[in-house]
Amino acid sequence: MRRFRDLFRLVLRYRLNLIGNIAFNALGSVLSLFTFLAIVPFLRILFQTGGATGGAAGPASGSEGSAESHPVFAGITRALDAYVAAHGAEHALLMMCGAIAVLAFIKNAVTYLSFYSLSTIRTGVARDLRSQLFDRILALPVGYFTEQRKGDLISRMTNDLMEVEFSVIGTLEVLFKAPIMILLSLVTLFAISWELTLFALVFMPVAGFIISRIAMALRGAAGRGKARLGDLISRLEETLGAMVVVKAFDAAPRFRGRFEEHNQGYFQLMRKLYKREYLSSPVSEFVSMTVIAILLAVGGRLVLRGEGLEGELFIGYLVVFSQIIPPARSLSDAIFKVQKGAASLDRLDEVLQAEVSVAEPDDPQPMTFQREIAFQRVHFAYPGAPDRALHGFDLTVEKGETVALVGASGSGKTTVARLLLRLYDPQEGVVRIDGADLCNVASGELRRHIGFVTQDPLLFNDTVAANIALFDPTPDGERIRAVAEIAHAMEFIDQLSEGLETTIGDGGGRLSGGQRQRLAIARALYHDPPILVLDEATSALDAEGERLVQAAIERVMEGRTAIVIAHRLSTVRRADRIVVMDKGRIVESGSHDELMAASGSYQGMVALQQLEG
Ligand SMILES: Nc1ncnc2c1ncn2[C@@H]1O[C@H](COP(=O)(O)OP(=O)(O)OP(=O)(O)O)[C@@H](O)[C@H]1O
Ligand SMILES: [Mg+2]
Repeated sequence: MRRFRDLFRLVLRYRLNLIGNIAFNALGSVLSLFTFLAIVPFLRILFQTGGATGGAAGPASGSEGSAESHPVFAGITRALDAYVAAHGAEHALLMMCGAIAVLAFIKNAVTYLSFYSLSTIRTGVARDLRSQLFDRILALPVGYFTEQRKGDLISRMTNDLMEVEFSVIGTLEVLFKAPIMILLSLVTLFAISWELTLFALVFMPVAGFIISRIAMALRGAAGRGKARLGDLISRLEETLGAMVVVKAFDAAPRFRGRFEEHNQGYFQLMRKLYKREYLSSPVSEFVSMTVIAILLAVGGRLVLRGEGLEGELFIGYLVVFSQIIPPARSLSDAIFKVQKGAASLDRLDEVLQAEVSVAEPDDPQPMTFQREIAFQRVHFAYPGAPDRALHGFDLTVEKGETVALVGASGSGKTTVARLLLRLYDPQEGVVRIDGADLCNVASGELRRHIGFVTQDPLLFNDTVAANIALFDPTPDGERIRAVAEIAHAMEFIDQLSEGLETTIGDGGGRLSGGQRQRLAIARALYHDPPILVLDEATSALDAEGERLVQAAIERVMEGRTAIVIAHRLSTVRRADRIVVMDKGRIVESGSHDELMAASGSYQGMVALQQLEG
């Protein structure tokens, strides 16, 4: 039960509120008990004195035996009788009713205070859980986030978290309050009539058994339901992300069909779940009413036979007993809810406990980059992929060198870049910088050394400046302008309505492909990294734009080390070394002239592109 323990630890951060909640609940329980017990003296005033209104003979006259027979209530009864004798029955009655109203006010004020402290606990714990989850998501390796998982993660962070807040933390109050209320009531019941109470207690385990059976079944169903909902949201997420494709290919009916299938599955599961959940209330109500009926029979007989239980006390007993039922029922409801919430808590726990396959080193060694980057016999397959993307990849890039990676689509060029950034770890072999295994350096430090322009430039719905500085807390306006200038991005940024402060839409949707790439280049340059990795950085630019960016890149690469991945061979001609890859292996390497002279696959590729051009 570690997840409940972890959750409880979060709750304990709100110690003061928790203590407040429990204390106010206890106080509220005592007060409400008094409010209900007030029925006993009320009845006594009404009936005992009612018969004796004519004569002022004194209220105790007719019922000497019964009223004084109860050890606990005898004192109170005597005091009450004395009060009635002194001030008259009607006055006593009014005072009683006034006291009830005052008690009810105090009780409800106290109850409000208990909810007041609960509000901080439940929203606070939900907030902390959300932060924990988000931190975890940021720490997880990129390989974790498949398309299917994205929607599921969103579902976990919203639906499951809400379920935990509502079902587990929200019922916390019940879990503390109901037992106090039940215990206090039981003590009172024992005080009034221990025989009757013992008798009633026999039925409690029976009721408990029935209720717990239903609750267990509910939990399994709730877990399956949440998983289904995760699927559903994945589908939605995927469709929203691919709206252009959905419309362009007139695929809406097919997407609808797939969605409907999941929607129907979810409907069936949830219907089953609610059928079970709704069963809990009638079952517990039936059980409790049966117990009351039995009590009425047994207690009524005791009263009729005059066996140590007078009428008004029995009615008081029944009122108090009926007050056990709401907390007992809310307790059983709470058990249901907690079971339902536990399924969601499990799902949150799965994320919190997910293995970070690219783990941070415990004792990171300081990173330097003075000599070289070395891939040594690296074998790598993507998680779940049957084939390796890299087979014994060997490459050393000296500091200051520009190496171009070329090769057919799918030959593993992007994979090399990802391993250098340690987005994945190789299964065999190592990647080193200055001799240090990347697994032993802090990934933050590693990534600060590298500027990466991805094949698919990822932009955020924020201003141009924020996209270049990537939420740098202290953005350097001068620098942003300078790197945008170098990337030849300033030309189009100046045309935007608000220049660098223009918001560029979801994923940079308001920019063209080439403009997005130029922003991505500017971003990679912003932190002035000693190593640059450019993956197809110029592919979306027209000939003129490409020439400008190419010239700019050559300028910024001076004094830097660069790995340039490109399909257009004209852009890599001036690299110090060109490495040709095929199916995860290096098949050729050398300068442009050397490779042309060798008449190998590079020469073939160049010839092909010249034909096309
Ligand atoms: N996230 C992934 N999960 C599983 N397999 C992947 C993943 N990314 C790439 N692959 C596979 O790994 C191999 C190498 O892919 P990589 O992206 O490195 O190719 P590339 O040389 O960059 O191709 P391109 O020129 O088209 O960008 C391919 O066979 C590809 O199918
Ligand atoms: Mg690629």
